[in-house]
Amino acid sequence: MMQATSSDSAAPLLAVRDVSVVFGGIVALNGVSFDMKKGQILGLIGPNGAGKTTLFNCLSRLYQPSKGDILLDGESILSRPAHRIAEIGIGRTFQNVALFPNLSVLDNVRVGTHSRTNSDIVSDSLRLPWVRSGEKAMNKRVDEILGYLDLREVAHTTVSGLPFGTQKRVELARALAAEPKILLLDEPAGGLNHEEVYVLGDLVRRIRNDRGVTVLLVEHHMGMVMSTADHVVALNFGKKLAEGTPTEVQNNADVIKAYLGSKDQ
Ligand SMILES: Nc1ncnc2c1ncn2[C@@H]1O[C@H](COP(=O)(O)OP(=O)(O)OP(=O)(O)O)[C@@H](O)[C@H]1O
Ligand SMILES: [Mg+2]
Repeated sequence: MMQATSSDSAAPLLAVRDVSVVFGGIVALNGVSFDMKKGQILGLIGPNGAGKTTLFNCLSRLYQPSKGDILLDGESILSRPAHRIAEIGIGRTFQNVALFPNLSVLDNVRVGTHSRTNSDIVSDSLRLPWVRSGEKAMNKRVDEILGYLDLREVAHTTVSGLPFGTQKRVELARALAAEPKILLLDEPAGGLNHEEVYVLGDLVRRIRNDRGVTVLLVEHHMGMVMSTADHVVALNFGKKLAEGTPTEVQNNADVIKAYLGSKDQ
C-alpha cells in the first residue's frame, strides 16, 4: 500500500489527534480529534466552557496537551515553543485585540513580518546589503497587505485612535504579514455589531479565496460561523459533540440541546 505523504491532496493540513487537557481536576478537553483540509474554513463552536479556547491555545502552543498529538503536514508541533509557531505557518489573532496601541498601523503590521525575516540585531544595525533587500521585500509585502485590507489610508495613524472594527483588520493584517498556512481566529466577532460581524465573515472568506489561507474560526456567534465556515466541529464539556457541514451541525439534536441548555444563546 502507498504511504500517505503531506503532498497527498487527501492528507489533512492539520490533524488534531485525541487531544486532552487537564487543569488540576478539570478536564477541559477530553480526547478531541478532527482534521483540517487545506483551504478549508473550519468553525469551532460550543457553549461557554466547552473547551474552544483551550483547543485554540493548544494549536498556538500556549497550552501543552496532557495527551494526544497535533500534526501540521504530518509533523507534530508539540515540541515547538509558542514563539516559534509563526515560522512553520501558524498565525493567530487574539480574543482581545493585542496590538501595540501607541504604534502606527504600519509598524504593527511590520511586527508580523518578523518571523519571516532572517535578520538579527547585529546585521540590522550594520545594514548589510542582504538585510536591505530583505527589508525592501518586506516593505512591499506589508504595503500589499495594507492595500488588500483597505488600511493604506490609516497606515501612519496610531492604532489606539482607530475604531474597534478597524483595529481587528489591523490584527488580521499583522497575522497575514507572516504569510501563514493556517490562520487561527479567536472569537473575531466579539465586540462587533451585527453588520460588522457579517462584513468580517465575508472578509475571512475573501482571505481564504484570494490567498489560499486555511482558517480555524473559534466563535461563539453561531450566525457568523454558519455563514462563514465550510465545516463545523461542535464541542461540549471538552468533548466533540458533532462534526459536519454548517447545516448538519446546526440541525444536530445534541448541538441544539447543548445550546438550549446554555445561558449564552
Ligand atoms: N487556565 C485554566 N486553568 C484552569 N481551568 C481552565 C483554564 N482554562 C480553561 N479552564 C477550564 O476549562 C474549561 C474549558 O474552558 P475554555 O476556556 O476552553 O472554554 P470555551 O469554550 O473557550 O468557553 P467560552 O465560550 O466561555 O470562551 C472550563 O471549565 C474552564 O473553566
Ligand atoms: Mg473561550
